[in-house]
Amino acid sequence: MSKADSIPFFKPSFTSEEEEAVLRVLRSGWLTTGPETLALEKEFAAYVQSPYALAVNSATSGLLLAQQAFGVGPGDKVLTTPYTFISTATSAVHLGAEVVYADIEADGFNIDPQAIERALTQNTAIKAIIPVHIAGLPCRMSEIMDIARHYKVRVIEDAAHSFPSKTKEGWAGNLADAGVFSFYATKTITCGEGGMICLNDQQASERIKRLRSHGIDRTIWDRYTSNKASWLYDVTEAGWKCNLPDILSAIARVQLTRAEEFRAKRAAICAQYTKAFTENPITRELIEPPPEGEGHAWHLYLITLQSDRIKGTRDDFGRMLQEKGISISMHFIPHFSFDWCKKRYNLNPNDFPNAKRRGNNTLTLPLWPEMREDDVNRVIEAVISTSKAMIRSRP
Ligand SMILES: Cc1ncc(COP(=O)(O)O)c(C=O)c1O
Repeated sequence: MSKADSIPFFKPSFTSEEEEAVLRVLRSGWLTTGPETLALEKEFAAYVQSPYALAVNSATSGLLLAQQAFGVGPGDKVLTTPYTFISTATSAVHLGAEVVYADIEADGFNIDPQAIERALTQNTAIKAIIPVHIAGLPCRMSEIMDIARHYKVRVIEDAAHSFPSKTKEGWAGNLADAGVFSFYATKTITCGEGGMICLNDQQASERIKRLRSHGIDRTIWDRYTSNKASWLYDVTEAGWKCNLPDILSAIARVQLTRAEEFRAKRAAICAQYTKAFTENPITRELIEPPPEGEGHAWHLYLITLQSDRIKGTRDDFGRMLQEKGISISMHFIPHFSFDWCKKRYNLNPNDFPNAKRRGNNTLTLPLWPEMREDDVNRVIEAVISTSKAMIRSRP
């Protein structure tokens, strides 16, 4: 099957509005962080009802800066799960901290609050917890926050998958001390690369503003537009280069206005997938559909194969789908499988039975808002026919 006939894993949705936004910035002559980024921050803060929203060049940078602003550093530990993107963990390591891992829940992909509590009783150096709303389904945040307050640790939500996601408790990414969103190329809204940190702590917010721009105490836009001498600035501490340029912010501003439309379309496609896989007698036996729940942003659609019912492996299943022209992905390869993590922490995968099971048996199906009905049907048919070929009959 040629690449052209394949169903991609993701396609961004852009209109002439995003194109015009880029042209507006190019024609303005101001390319780096400036008025578009300030406007994006204001609009994003209003959307998730957060006092402060700070644009950064990736969620990875956002995770790093939020931890640094809360004082994470050498000698500290940061708790997360092995079932997430690698930078959830490596962002702590870059600050001189070490990672402690807790397993995910048996019936989902998010961190298990009980495993958090066990880790906190065993490890007094834990300074922050990073729960990850995998695929866009919010973690059990009120339980996590109760535990965190009891042990006096900070909570930074990795909300890379969960925009827009609203629960009774509020917007995911605004349910803890800080939340970090991603605008990476395949995310729910995108400008290619980018991220946003939301928080309600003014001091931490001021520090992040400096840290994201070399530790400089005035933004370049402030220096350009203010009456004070534009060439003068101070450097208050060693910072990074993590600002979001206006070209990207202009795209993100348009995408923000379309976020709910995108979410609704993805949710409808996911409902179609789940209906098809639970109604078909073969896929009902072989495939565990993803968990549902309040406020799901439906960034990704993860299926888990029942390991006792499959002939062969998840990778064989994935290859068969690819041969049928269906692009797939894997969220996530657990950290304990990576060479980096083996060398640094030498974890035993059996200590994380839920992450191990998902890591061996899960794959991600194509999902994007403009998927056409026949794209969705082709994915469903390919999953059903592959399941027919790969199901093991009951002994
Ligand atoms: C759960 C999770 N956290 C963090 C990130 C990092 O996002 P970014 O690519 O914006 O740095 C990703 C990106 O894929 C992710 O999936």
